[in-house]
Amino acid sequence: MNRKIVKDKKLAIHGGKKTVPDNLKVKWPIITEEDKKAVMRVLDRGIIWGPYAPEVVGLQEDFAKYVGTKYCIAVNSGTAALHMAIAAAGVGPGDEVITSSFSFLSSATAILHQNAIPIFVDIDPRTFNIDPGKIEEKITKKTKAIIPVHIHGLPADMNRINKIARKYNLVVIEDAAQAHGATYHGKKVGNFGDMAIFSLNTTKNLPGGEGGLFVTNSKEYRGKANMTRMFGEILNPEEGRKYNAYTMGWNYRTQEMPAAFARSQLKRLDEYNANSQRNGEYLSKHLAEIKGVIPPYVPEDRTTVYHKYRVRLNPSELGIDMEVSKFRDLVMKALQAEGVDVVFWQTVPIPGQTLFKLKEGYGRGCPWSCPYYHQEIKYDPNDYPETVKLLNDSFVVCSEPYPIYCQRFELMKYYAEAFQKVFDNIEEVVGAE
Ligand SMILES: Cc1ncc(COP(=O)(O)O)c(C=O)c1O
Repeated sequence: MNRKIVKDKKLAIHGGKKTVPDNLKVKWPIITEEDKKAVMRVLDRGIIWGPYAPEVVGLQEDFAKYVGTKYCIAVNSGTAALHMAIAAAGVGPGDEVITSSFSFLSSATAILHQNAIPIFVDIDPRTFNIDPGKIEEKITKKTKAIIPVHIHGLPADMNRINKIARKYNLVVIEDAAQAHGATYHGKKVGNFGDMAIFSLNTTKNLPGGEGGLFVTNSKEYRGKANMTRMFGEILNPEEGRKYNAYTMGWNYRTQEMPAAFARSQLKRLDEYNANSQRNGEYLSKHLAEIKGVIPPYVPEDRTTVYHKYRVRLNPSELGIDMEVSKFRDLVMKALQAEGVDVVFWQTVPIPGQTLFKLKEGYGRGCPWSCPYYHQEIKYDPNDYPETVKLLNDSFVVCSEPYPIYCQRFELMKYYAEAFQKVFDNIEEVVGAE
């Protein structure tokens, strides 16, 4: 990059020419003729639903093969898949389940759906994943499971987490909603917990409209999760339906058209992930050279699929004495004016959301007020300082309609150039309120 030329340019916030040309961004999801044919085949076949309908079964087989697990159950959301895993783990009223304070809400609400209590652990400031060094202090006699989240597509430190889980006899459920195809020690995520879940929500690297995938190597967990999927009944495709529920169950079935669409997309998942990695690595290489900008960190023992590409800022490195969130907001404005797609994703740690402040839950304070739970839990976002810091000093490059995994390499070059321009003129940016 020619820094001299960039430096001479007037910032777009001050009326200069914006760096990034319009109409370069690619909209997600990419829908091909093959995808359309896959959905049309469903309509031509005339089978559009059913627990063992051909596309649902096909998706389960294809995804189990992709991840390398024995079993997969396709459902109508990642949240449903997570609830099924928590139920299959035997979690119930009065139990505690540990998860990360930095995730999408569902990582915690799926615990509430099973009448159990979410216990949050702060993050590692470099990987943004649950900090294994802070898990043990949160374990009590009531702890039943740990849900590490592979946030933004980067695997959590599963060896350290599994070691703790074994010591305390806890079930591990990987929340891989954002991490299809990411690897840890050379193996795909989904192979490290007792169970794992993925989301097919259209913002994900593997889009299916809506949907979720539950995977495991355990026949027992598979069976229990399947009962939660369908009314608490034991349904066997070879036998007639008995109409008898053995346990609490829901209707988490998915349908043939989204299943066929997801199967078709799965064929291109590795291609999108490779594109994401190329884009992310290029941006990281260039952003690392800019003072005050901290690109995402990827430890050597794992790969990320950059479901989200998060950048942190450090104004003190530039000698700027300003509240970091204010600095971040000004940088975002300047980058947006240059044509860079930068957005927020989450604004408070999960325990800072109103649901956890009010603790009304199902009403009358359940499950926190459940007679099986004798503890008084207070959720204070300030107990998760690394998550708070991250949310104050960072933003995500590429928004959900235009994610990094489907963008052209050319766009990344313009984005890197725009960052350079904004930081070459940072005094003007911070003076430009
Ligand atoms: C980390 C995480 N967990 C769980 C979910 C829930 O998935 P879904 O939206 O498919 O219910 C999501 C997706 O939004 C997520 O990002």
